[in-house]
Amino acid sequence: MHVQTLILGAGAAGLMAAAHAGPSTLVIDHAKAVGEKIRISGGGRCNFTNMQCGPDNFISKNKHFSKSALKRFSQWDFLDLVQKHRIPWHEKTLGQLFCDTSAKDIIQMLLAEASAATIWTRTRLIELSHDGSHFRVTIEKDGKNLDVTTKALIVATGGKSIPKMGATGLAYDIAAQFGHPVTETRAGLVPFTFPDGRFSPLSGLSLPVRGETGGQAFEEALLFTHRGLSGPAILQLSSYWREGQDVALNLLPGSDVVSALKAARQQTGKRNLTTGLATMLPEKLVTFLAGEIDLTGNCGDLSNSRIDALAAALQSWRVLPQGTEGYRTAEVTLGGVSTDGVDSRTMMSKSLPGLFFIGECLDVTGWLGGYNFQWAWSSGVAAGQAA
Ligand code: FDA
Repeated sequence: MHVQTLILGAGAAGLMAAAHAGPSTLVIDHAKAVGEKIRISGGGRCNFTNMQCGPDNFISKNKHFSKSALKRFSQWDFLDLVQKHRIPWHEKTLGQLFCDTSAKDIIQMLLAEASAATIWTRTRLIELSHDGSHFRVTIEKDGKNLDVTTKALIVATGGKSIPKMGATGLAYDIAAQFGHPVTETRAGLVPFTFPDGRFSPLSGLSLPVRGETGGQAFEEALLFTHRGLSGPAILQLSSYWREGQDVALNLLPGSDVVSALKAARQQTGKRNLTTGLATMLPEKLVTFLAGEIDLTGNCGDLSNSRIDALAAALQSWRVLPQGTEGYRTAEVTLGGVSTDGVDSRTMMSKSLPGLFFIGECLDVTGWLGGYNFQWAWSSGVAAGQAA
């Protein structure tokens, strides 16, 4: 069979591209159902975009690459679509927009928008070549092989995160097949692990922090787990972390700890320092910190230099992760198909016209907070319109 456009992957980017491509469009996906990551995202409510979305919220070797697509199909354009389909939504925090009811509303919306396209699930790519003018593709559907020719091939098979859900490195293989460089890939938006269950006594405890690593800081919640550290602040930092790098945690962001300790020295001098600190931090955490920092004595005994040292320890607590939980739980894959060989307005290959890469498979990774879906929507629209 011949189609005008063949899209590999019926996830966020692939479905959006299908909604904007011509009527002769076939989308194939090896999974049982389309948009599985949309379905489980945002705790089942899908954080579908972010009101503050802009190029600075993305990590890529080329920090300018995302600009054009994000401008041409912005968070406001996606929100218009959500409103057109009368999907109830709300803002949670930091500009993050979620469905009120279910992430399935977004999948239904995309399927309605892409209704002119043919979508086949449980369909595998067997072989792919280019004959100089067309792509020749062999696919397997219902146990039978089928040959498809097309002039436009949009690769939307995502990254490597959560292989259990069907994530594969197919996009990188296709890029390599056609001579496109692929930048190093890593798990992103992923919890940190630490040796020996270091934080297990604190497991379940959450508090607001300002964390910093690799020159990037985030002020959000931190969550202690049996295996290490998680929570939004940590997931964000993980995308900027490299092995051997430590993470500085300000456990009292926005507080004037020196003044608070000086006031404690004067007003509650007979209190244990640990009791004094427990008015500022969770008691469990103070007990834990007492094993790491000298917290002996009373508030009244504190010298000015000890107050300074204590404030520094609490506002720049340095921890050294052993690693991350990896692709098993990572929300995204950092790196991917290099943007060098891709046109930022159309997502089309500069060396092989008709070949497009969109969504997470590209070396464009968003922060936590709806940015990755916005990239899927924006890059999907760019390629769908150009195909
Ligand atoms: P996506 O992964 O969505 O789609 C790829 C498709 O290709 C899949 O349907 C897959 O089955 C198919 N495929 C893969 N290999 C194939 C092969 N070899 N043959 C055929 N088909 C193949 N982002 C955000 O902005 N807000 C949020 O709330 C969340 N929440 C979230 C939660 C969790 C648990 C995860 C894992 C991720 C998120 N994300 C997120 C990230 C977001 O889900 C992700 O960035 C987008 O889904 C990427 O869209 P793509 O279409 O590029 O890939």
